[in-house]
Amino acid sequence: MLVKINPETKVFGIIGFPLSHSLSPVMHNRAFEELGINAIYLYFPCKEVEGVVAGIKSLSIKGLSITIPHKEKICRYVDELDPMAKSIGAINTLVNKGEKVIGYNTDAYGALMALKSRIEDLRAKKVLIIGAGGASRAIGFALKEEGAEISITNRTEQRGIALAKELKAQFYPFPDIKGDFNIVIQTTPLGMYPEIEKMPLLPDSIFEKKPVVMDIIYNPMETAFLKLARKKRCETISGVDMFVYQGAKQFELWTGKQAPIDIMKETVISFLKGEIR
Ligand code: ATR
Repeated sequence: MLVKINPETKVFGIIGFPLSHSLSPVMHNRAFEELGINAIYLYFPCKEVEGVVAGIKSLSIKGLSITIPHKEKICRYVDELDPMAKSIGAINTLVNKGEKVIGYNTDAYGALMALKSRIEDLRAKKVLIIGAGGASRAIGFALKEEGAEISITNRTEQRGIALAKELKAQFYPFPDIKGDFNIVIQTTPLGMYPEIEKMPLLPDSIFEKKPVVMDIIYNPMETAFLKLARKKRCETISGVDMFVYQGAKQFELWTGKQAPIDIMKETVISFLKGEIR
């Protein structure tokens, strides 16, 4: 990466704590480079979000990605929330428009785009979402807007039932799932590097109708759950797709330019394969 820094260089970054090795910096910096945009994307380890909005205004930081554990708490400090972010109750993106800092949730968009690249019309599709955390909420609200029929299963019953109620969805206690599905979405951390052998243990019947199966984990690119789905002859979508689309939407919100999606995806895959460091 070749960065020439001068007073006009726009600064972006990611906040979280502890800030694990996110792939957002390598992806966004490559995209800036590709389009010749005078900008840089940095890591900002951040324990407390209270001062973040005032801080980015005062330092003219143009935008931030928000990650664990701040996605919900930071909502109360922004000047405005995008309507979808408001219904989800969590954001992963800040855009500094000068007077106002606006919060968006591009995880929802990322998941939708990843699904729509395989299934054009999500209306009336039967979708099983495994998990009821922040990511599951974002995906659930996005799919509800598309008219999908949602079912949720979750280890902690209370949390699952609460989300199912908000989404007017069916709840199944984990792992007692009945019913057949067109789409299955795995949103728990089970199978994430380094514990790559793990997966939610669910009855084989969920694969019976040959659903499209998506995992939101992108490292490894093919989780144990996706491997199993592939063995059951289901079409699978890697978490890399959702990650790249959520990043592409952030890029467009920040720069007003169309994101170089193919380059961004190539960069993420090369990084995951260890080809770049
Ligand atoms: P995120 O914001 O990334 O979705 P989260 O809010 O911590 O993260 O949610 C994680 C989800 O994975 C939850 O649904 C969680 O289930 P609980 O509500 O029971 O905690 C689920 N999860 C995490 N570890 C799990 C495990 N070992 N087995 C099954 N589900 C698990």
